Amino acid sequence: MEERVLSSEAIVNDLSFEQSLRPQTLSQYIGQDEVKKNLAVFIEAAKLRKETLDHVLLYGPPGLGKTTLAVVIANEMGVNVRTTSGPAIERPGDLAAILTSLEPGEVLFIDEIHRLPRAIEEVLYPAMEDYCLDIVIGKGPESRSVRLDLPPFTLVGATTRAGSVSAPLRDRFGVLSRLEYYTEDQLTNIVKRTAEILDTEIDGQGAIEIARRSRGTPRIANRLLRRVRDFAQVRGDGIITRQLADQALELLQVDRLGLDNIDHKLLKGMIEKFRGGPVGLNTIAASIGEEAMTIEDVYEPYLMQIGFLQRTPRGRMVTDLVYDYFHLEVPEK
Ligand SMILES: Nc1ncnc2c1ncn2[C@@H]1O[C@H](COP(=O)(O)OP(=O)(O)O)[C@@H](O)[C@H]1O
Ligand SMILES: [Mg+2]
Repeated sequence: MEERVLSSEAIVNDLSFEQSLRPQTLSQYIGQDEVKKNLAVFIEAAKLRKETLDHVLLYGPPGLGKTTLAVVIANEMGVNVRTTSGPAIERPGDLAAILTSLEPGEVLFIDEIHRLPRAIEEVLYPAMEDYCLDIVIGKGPESRSVRLDLPPFTLVGATTRAGSVSAPLRDRFGVLSRLEYYTEDQLTNIVKRTAEILDTEIDGQGAIEIARRSRGTPRIANRLLRRVRDFAQVRGDGIITRQLADQALELLQVDRLGLDNIDHKLLKGMIEKFRGGPVGLNTIAASIGEEAMTIEDVYEPYLMQIGFLQRTPRGRMVTDLVYDYFHLEVPEK
């Protein structure tokens, strides 16, 4: 599959690069003010009482800073973070091995926690509630259950699909934080911060131009900055101005709202083939040759955020804004 420059998922080359850009403390972490304010209080209180922090569930679309925030939480608590993910834990024993090897107070970060198999979730319940592990020894009538004490720890879970986290698991988190898309101002600050770390010269307007086309997503902002910077070095004098950012992004086929060919295909397809909807997700997916899941998790959330798409009980609909955007006549209702 061709890599999409606007993908909110990490793509090849992002990973080592992102590592160097990750904010390490709450004060370096830009935006998400509500979430930060709450966390700061909980962290402060836990430190005063010399207790571990309550378990935290972070949810929101990809690229908004969930993994980053998990590391920030550990840093602010002054502890290490152990990282794993839902799909990586296949058997209850895998989780038991991780839990028993934690140091007191450590943060265990489970990414994509909605993908934990049910049987493993059940191991997690007593671990989260009472810091203990119930393990079954032996088989058949001879088997018995023993309880193992664990060091106190903080579980930080991350998910793009809060609705897919089971209720019993969700209820065991003390803190639930929803990350929101970033404003243009916040993304502008993120672009400026990244440019400084990369030692790239960028002017205010150049930063705004990149921020505006980044779909409210820091991961995309950082990626676009990197591409524009390449362009600035090859075609310009290395300095990123609005004009240069504009040219580079045009070339990358990122339009002025941060939409690309796939978004265009999706929206125009809905208008041309389904008179703007309502049309079911699977039908849209089939008509443009994308996975329904990908549309739902990756493309749709931003299109809904900017008011281009609506979900109705009968399917997805484009709004009048889309007709305006493509200079099309809004059909009679
Ligand atoms: N609040 C923020 N301030 C500055 N940079 C951020 C922020 N949130 C995310 N980033 C940048 O975006 C990148 C992707 O964030 P990440 O935490 O991996 O997202 P997620 O885990 O939600 O997919 C990070 O490497 C970081 O550089
Ligand atoms: Mg992540």
